Formats: sequence, structure tokens, C-alpha cells
Amino acid sequence: MTSIAQRKLTVVGAGYVGMTCAQLAAQKDLAAEICLIDIQEGRAKGIALDLDQMAAVEGFGTRVVGTGDPAATAGSDLFIVTAGLPRKPGMSRSDLLETNGKIVASIADYVRDGSPDAIVIVVTNPLDIMVHLMRARTGFPARRVVGMAGVLDSARFSWFIAEATGANVQDVDAMVLGAHGDSMVPLAHFCTVNGVQLEHLTDRATIAVLADRTRKGGGEIVGLLKTGSAFYAPAAASVAMARLILNDGRRLLLC
Ligand code: LAC
Repeated sequence: MTSIAQRKLTVVGAGYVGMTCAQLAAQKDLAAEICLIDIQEGRAKGIALDLDQMAAVEGFGTRVVGTGDPAATAGSDLFIVTAGLPRKPGMSRSDLLETNGKIVASIADYVRDGSPDAIVIVVTNPLDIMVHLMRARTGFPARRVVGMAGVLDSARFSWFIAEATGANVQDVDAMVLGAHGDSMVPLAHFCTVNGVQLEHLTDRATIAVLADRTRKGGGEIVGLLKTGSAFYAPAAASVAMARLILNDGRRLLLC
């Protein structure tokens, strides 16, 4: 992995998730350069310029570059792929398959050609299928193409557990495995609050409600927002993964 002084991170898609990823990654000085690419070039450039000006106040050293040109992403160490349409109320993630599949396939082509050694974190829905598509189309080994969902789904479960038990969410360690959809599996037996098993802190019926709310966690936010889906926690989860991968953080993350 290249040193921070030369590191290049590309965020694909300057929607809410992508722009928040760029912001968080810049504030954490994750790379020398963050390339933010969007088919709406002006949007990518505008957000990048805004973030670069924010650096004067926030004091980060990362330079954010906005572009619409895939060639500008060449030589990236890591990609966070957020491009694609979000769900509307009532839609399932798999309703996005056809549209977002075409988008992810075209991204895979320039990732493979311009950044053959990169690691790719896929965020676009339907997540599990898009991860598979990215891997098949780039030909990258499985360990270099990961999906962002386990960290997000576990964060949601953690929050619901914290709310229900009165614990500080930082003391909650929750585990959600499986696909990023209604069939995801919140593993209550592996959830602890500062080492104490969740099962000792609340009853089974409550745990079942928390698990169910976790499974539908993305949809709950889509329903409230009406247009678009969640972006703060998805972006934070993506950037946490990127940071640990780039810094060889040796943490165990769900993906
Ligand atoms: C969600 C989207 C990112 O779960 O799938 O909010």
C-alpha cells in the first residue's frame, strides 16, 4: 500500500452517500488526493471545490478533485463505489438491479483498466449482487472487492440495542451477517454491551423487535425521507472500512 503522501482514493458517485464519504475521508486525511467522480461533472467539481475550501477552516491536508472523466481515477489505491439510483419508498433494493447493474459494470471497466491493483468497496444496491458483478467484471480476487453492509447493518442494530437498554452505543458490539436485505441475520447471541451478553440485559421479545427493525433499517429511513435513502451511517461505514484497509488496521469488520 502506498504511503499517505501519495495515496489516492476515488469516490464514485457524488450523491449524498458519495459526497459524505468524500467529506469524512478528507476530514480524516485518508489520502493525499480524493477523486470524486460523477456523470454530472459540475456536481462533482462543485462539491470538490466546496470541500477544498472547507479545508481552510477544518485544517485537513487532503485535496479533493471533482471530475466526470474516468481517466482521472487512474492509479487509485481504493475505490468507494456509491453511484446508482437510490430506492424510493416501497421499493426493495433488488428493484434497482437493472439500472444500477449497468452503472456498476461501466465503473468496473475503468477500475480494472486504470487501477488494476486497487481495492474496491461497493456500496451501490442491490449490494450483494453489485459486489459480485464488480468482482466478475474486474476479474479482481475476492479479497480486493468487498461490500459495505455488515458494518452499517451492525451499526443500526447497535443503535437500537443502545436505545432499548440505555447503554452508550460505543459499549455495544453487535453482529449482523448475511445479505444486505430483508434476509439479513442479526445475531443477537453475539451481541454484547461492554462484554455482557444482550440476552442478560433484555428479554427475547424485545430482542426480536430490535432485530426486525434492523432488518428493515434502511427502508425505515427511505420511508421517512421520501426521496433518497440513508447516507450518514452508510458513508461513515464505508470510510471506516477504507481507513482500516488503507492503514492495515487489523480490525475484524463484517462484510
Ligand atoms: C441502506 C442502503 C444504503 O441500507 O442500502 O440504507
